[in-house]
Amino acid sequence: MLAWTALGLALSLRVALAQSGAERGPPASSPQGDLLFLVDSSASVSHYEFSRVREFLGQLVAPLPLGPRALHASLVHVGSQPDTEFSFGQYNSGASVQDAIRAATQRMGDTNTGLALAYAKEQLFDTAAGSQPGVPKVLVWVTDGGSSDPVGPPMQELKDLGVTVFIISTGRGNLLELSAAASAPPEKHLHFVDVDDLHIITQELRDSILDAMQPQQQLRASEVTSSSFRLAWLPLLTAKSGYYLLELVPSAEPGVVRRQQVPGNATGWVWAGLEPDTDYDVALVPESNELFVGPQHLRVRTLPEEAGPERIVISHARPRSVRVSWAPTLGPAAVLGYHVLYGPLQGGTAQRVEVPAGQNSTTLQGLTPGTVYLVTVTAAFRLGQERALSAKACTLPGERSRALPLPDTRARGP
Ligand SMILES: *[C@@H]1O[C@H](CO)[C@@H](O)[C@H](O)[C@H]1NC(C)=O
Ligand SMILES: *[C@@H]1O[C@H](CO)[C@@H](O)[C@H](O)[C@H]1NC(C)=O
Repeated sequence: MLAWTALGLALSLRVALAQSGAERGPPASSPQGDLLFLVDSSASVSHYEFSRVREFLGQLVAPLPLGPRALHASLVHVGSQPDTEFSFGQYNSGASVQDAIRAATQRMGDTNTGLALAYAKEQLFDTAAGSQPGVPKVLVWVTDGGSSDPVGPPMQELKDLGVTVFIISTGRGNLLELSAAASAPPEKHLHFVDVDDLHIITQELRDSILDAMQPQQQLRASEVTSSSFRLAWLPLLTAKSGYYLLELVPSAEPGVVRRQQVPGNATGWVWAGLEPDTDYDVALVPESNELFVGPQHLRVRTLPEEAGPERIVISHARPRSVRVSWAPTLGPAAVLGYHVLYGPLQGGTAQRVEVPAGQNSTTLQGLTPGTVYLVTVTAAFRLGQERALSAKACTLPGERSRALPLPDTRARGP
């Protein structure tokens, strides 16, 4: 427990230092999203602690832009059964939400947080419960550290759906478990604070919530390569309520559009077969008869093309060996390595040798004298692609060939 106190102190200090820094400017664009407070209201929390938490949450929301086309807030009590104090869109200003939080009464009972998280998931994604489709979702869980039922799996489900999870622990609690439960990185999403010191984190938490609510963070690209990238978005539709139309256009050639339809329960798509080093404009257009959700746009630039071997030089030809070298030489940062495949041009089994990244030559041994080989050098890139170049190599005629020369041996010399 000593470690806990030290950690709490360290976190509080860090927060206090951060607060003394320059004031943040207003957010780049007006935030929109659903903010759900999940508050431990069970008998494990003292009345005093509960009243301090209420005060803290009230001060946290008061300056937030709440209302239509802005943030919606809801408060759910954790107890034997989850219980909604107020739902999304019920109050349309920071001040009225603050009043509603101050009026909330403690429910007592068990601490069934897992149950409450499953309930929170329904509230966050059910438009009938007042949630908004296609907006960022944030969960703020205030806990004294304990739960009667498992928290990990339902929390993971929420994060998989794109919900940003902040955890405020006012009591004991297991650091590792709570770090895993909060969104990454935990330094930003997990706070250990004494109930009497909650005011220390108010500003930082409010700023982090607003950051998470920035609408431009919704459509994201990842795993960008020279020929592909992955798109990911928050759930806006369901399989029943509609589908998405994805559009991909090279920025320099607006006429060349690729389209793809994906089901309403999809939250990602990989675009492949793209040109290297090229800007693409991507649009995600939700199509639904039930909901109107606007399109989202993103520009993504593919990586420059990986250059494979551009030149192969055959040298040191002997009856049973040749040396193969190539350029350019790529290091371990670019390639995993090279493989060199060789076999008689006239047919026969091919063999393969591996050459580590950073080297540009190998000597092929055990060859047949006076034979034409096809040699292929392949660079295996870190991102999975391969680039190859081939060349012909001839071995010198051996002793036996010299004793019984073939008519065209000389013409085949290197
Ligand atoms: C979408 O729903 C269908 C069935 O309705 C299911 O087979 C599919 O796996 C789901 N896809 C995703 C990405 O959840
Ligand atoms: C292979 O690398 C060596 C040393 O870096 C260089 O001198 C040589 O020209 C390279 N081989 C080819 C075929 O470019």
